[in-house]
Amino acid sequence: MTDKGPQISKEDLDNHIGRTVNQDVWEDVHKIHENEFWDVYIAGHQEQLLKASQAIDNILEDMEKLDAWEDFRSEVKILVSKTTGIKRAVCLALGIFIHKIKGVEGIWTHQYAAFAYICRAIDDKQKRESDKLDSAPFKPIKRCFQDPKFDTRTEYLLTKIERKHDTGVNFVMEPPDATDIIDEDTFLYAIHIEPSMWRYILRNDEDGRSLCPQVMITNCISEKFGGLDRDRTAAEQYHKDCALSNRATFSKRLDEMEAAFKRLSETHAETAFPLVSRIANLDQHVFNRTSIFQKVRDISSQEQIVKLNESRYLLSQNTLTNPSLLRALLLKRHDIFEDSVNVQ
Ligand SMILES: C[S@@+](CC[C@H](N)C(=O)[O-])C[C@H]1O[C@@H](n2cnc3c(N)ncnc32)[C@H](O)[C@@H]1O
Repeated sequence: MTDKGPQISKEDLDNHIGRTVNQDVWEDVHKIHENEFWDVYIAGHQEQLLKASQAIDNILEDMEKLDAWEDFRSEVKILVSKTTGIKRAVCLALGIFIHKIKGVEGIWTHQYAAFAYICRAIDDKQKRESDKLDSAPFKPIKRCFQDPKFDTRTEYLLTKIERKHDTGVNFVMEPPDATDIIDEDTFLYAIHIEPSMWRYILRNDEDGRSLCPQVMITNCISEKFGGLDRDRTAAEQYHKDCALSNRATFSKRLDEMEAAFKRLSETHAETAFPLVSRIANLDQHVFNRTSIFQKVRDISSQEQIVKLNESRYLLSQNTLTNPSLLRALLLKRHDIFEDSVNVQ
């Protein structure tokens, strides 16, 4: 262990690759990466990152013990008790670790700590179950992180510093690798996502079966919580569709997203993320407009396809102006209108 940062030099790189890297290119790259090496080093790590790591450990300890975190603890207990066979946890849109922004301190560390706390609670539950059943050996869930903005310092903080209260192993993935592995056996955690990201969450497999995670913590969508993502997704898609086709039109993707949101509200119960207002020094925006979604009922794949078609055809002007298709729709004769209407 060293208290110095890595000693890098262009000369060493030149020697290693056996040719001379262009000086301007080297300087450009070095400028971009300079801040990755800037800092005092303590116990082998950059001081800021080590301190952030210690802060995460302290937050995790507080989450376990302090009264102020009681609502959070009991909500996590309920959430975890209803999960079955979680194989992986996917954390999207965590953003980059920034030491301090004026007025907002600790957002990154608190959002990360809450994720780590929930992952550990899922592991504890699955370990208890596996011990009881004496079945296949217990395996901690894989914790995968994806954000195109991640820098090397954030990746380091996630993967290179050990923490006493945070024993899971983190994997940083390149987009779209983490979104591609989201399925029903996933715990998804994505705080303050851009609405365009819903399409990664509300996906179907090739047979039309929903891949939506059984449990997720992300932007609220219910009107009673002030969720506007459905409207934004529809409005944005509509603008895009019209701009791309140079006419007022509705795309298949718009209809699919509408149907997917509708299905989400039917299959998952949405509850507001517990209030964190009792926690001292914590910015109140850290979990605002955030909900917990937990699967409460299944919709068979056939039912899903039917619902998707219903929504598609209902929105299709074609259907509404064609009496026989409208009748088929009202009689739920999906077989008739499925072949008859070609929605763009
Ligand atoms: C509004 S910020 C939220 C950051 C942080 N969670 C917060 O609450 O302050 C949205 C984040 O989503 C990230 N993002 C955008 N596309 C993404 C993708 N495909 N996968 C994962 N993260 C993505 C952005 O880079 C950005 O960091």
